[in-house]
Amino acid sequence: MNTMTLDAGNAAPAATGQLEQDTVDTNTKVSETVGQPLCDDAKLSMRNVNVFYGETQAIHDVSLDIGRNEVVAMIGPSGCGKSTFLRCINRMNDTIEGCRVDGDLTLDGEPIYGPKVDVVPLRARVGMVFQKPNPFPKTIYENVAYGPKIHGIASRRAELDEIVENSLRRAGLWNEVKDRLDKPGTGLSGGQQQRLCIARAIAVSPEVILMDEPCSALDPIATARIEELIDELRENYTIAIVTHSMQQAARVSQRTAYFHLGHLVEVNDTETVFTNPQHELTEAYITGRFG
Ligand SMILES: Nc1ncnc2c1ncn2[C@@H]1O[C@H](COP(=O)(O)OP(=O)(O)OP(=O)(O)O)[C@@H](O)[C@H]1O
Ligand SMILES: [Mg+2]
Repeated sequence: MNTMTLDAGNAAPAATGQLEQDTVDTNTKVSETVGQPLCDDAKLSMRNVNVFYGETQAIHDVSLDIGRNEVVAMIGPSGCGKSTFLRCINRMNDTIEGCRVDGDLTLDGEPIYGPKVDVVPLRARVGMVFQKPNPFPKTIYENVAYGPKIHGIASRRAELDEIVENSLRRAGLWNEVKDRLDKPGTGLSGGQQQRLCIARAIAVSPEVILMDEPCSALDPIATARIEELIDELRENYTIAIVTHSMQQAARVSQRTAYFHLGHLVEVNDTETVFTNPQHELTEAYITGRFG
């Protein structure tokens, strides 16, 4: 387990020209998050979150707010805990055997892990798009209509038809599937399946949408459509998006959170993170100086 040695406050980056030659010790220890992890108008508030898989700790004392109508991008090297942290927010880690989440997480000030919380309505309020598309073994239509039906949002066929069409349009998939709505969702290409899962997630009008690398299987056209959608959705919703694309983080988010070895190293407004990062690890990552 990591010991904490580095005083992150002293870790301001040196002049860029000089750093280009250097490499950064990726085992540098992080003592506290620099920047602005909290916000005034928090929709989601996470405090002192620790996550364990069995004996192994994957997330170390992470505190972060996500504001109403805000998009927060989560970035960092593979295995740093982005997906693990995202899954805490709608209790998807509950489904992983041996996974334990500690900490104080609230949605609109109400505990996400309270004993009385029913995870089914929670996951309708906090929707998720996974790293790998996972359509239900149902038709394209049913993939999108299922959520609105089970959550009682719509029951009449005409209402469902409208939600299905609207959700598929917003996900940029309607034109490709409108003539095959009764065919299995699993018969679509990978990128189409991902857009189907995005349509499924927005069909129940969640208040929060968690997106785990939603565009990694998409071509540039579909990616642009999803980025537009994220911008549209922000008017009403709160969004957390994990991405390996720094350009995407810069395009869609207001704040960016940089994770490293299970620690939240830095959170700042997105422009600051990409132009003037405060922590040497953030700078090393965005300038590509990790091996
Ligand atoms: N189901 C699991 N069981 C045990 N360990 C896990 C499990 N899922 C993730 N981990 C471990 O937790 C750590 C964080 O993994 P996580 O998948 O959250 O990283 P990530 O930042 O999303 O990486 P990537 O960018 O590759 O998706 C890793 O060390 C990983 O091996
Ligand atoms: Mg991941």
